[in-house]
Amino acid sequence: MLKQIKSDIYHLLHPKMAFFLTSIGKDKKPNVMTCAWATPVSEEPPIVIVCVAKEAYTAELIKKTKEFVINIPTKKFLKELWICGKISGRDTDKFKKSGLKIKKAKKVKPTVIDGCAGYIECRLLKTVEAGECYAFFGSVVSAYADDKYMRDGLWFEDAGIPLHLGGSRIVYAKKK
Ligand SMILES: Cc1cc2nc3c(=O)[nH]c(=O)nc-3n(C[C@H](O)[C@H](O)[C@H](O)COP(=O)(O)O)c2cc1C
Repeated sequence: MLKQIKSDIYHLLHPKMAFFLTSIGKDKKPNVMTCAWATPVSEEPPIVIVCVAKEAYTAELIKKTKEFVINIPTKKFLKELWICGKISGRDTDKFKKSGLKIKKAKKVKPTVIDGCAGYIECRLLKTVEAGECYAFFGSVVSAYADDKYMRDGLWFEDAGIPLHLGGSRIVYAKKK
């Protein structure tokens, strides 16, 4: 039986990949938040959107320094995904709290999370206000993927990329 959905309608569009969104302050202090609302919007040139709550510290940093990195984790980062998705970097150093290790990005200032399956470095192209979020359009300046998890530009089915259903539910793709 079809039931009308009246709240959290966005859950109908999940699962969505859960990833680490890294940003940096003018003081060079990095921050990381867990994010699931993202999509490619153009292939040529490559442009992606990340949607970030206006109240998130990450939103403040992206607006100020105009760069961000999408870090794609595997299932080994599950605990860290929850930590970085529950507390704000405004008053806590989430790298200390989660134990996540960072390394330099190739072309942008925000740091990259070490050990992820891949990452996409972006420069802010434009910002659209949408309800409680900002949709940050990012022009892709470089992207990398570990060949342990990707071949010929496609993730392996069983790469273990976390897919967020909403709430506390995460699932993983399985090889047929
Ligand atoms: C699995 C998961 C997915 C999330 N996806 C988003 C998202 O797409 N956009 C968003 O603004 N917050 C999302 N959050 C919540 C933020 O990660 C959370 O508000 C975080 O504390 C913000 O950190 P910041 O203040 O350091 O930027 C998600 C949290 C979890 C656990």
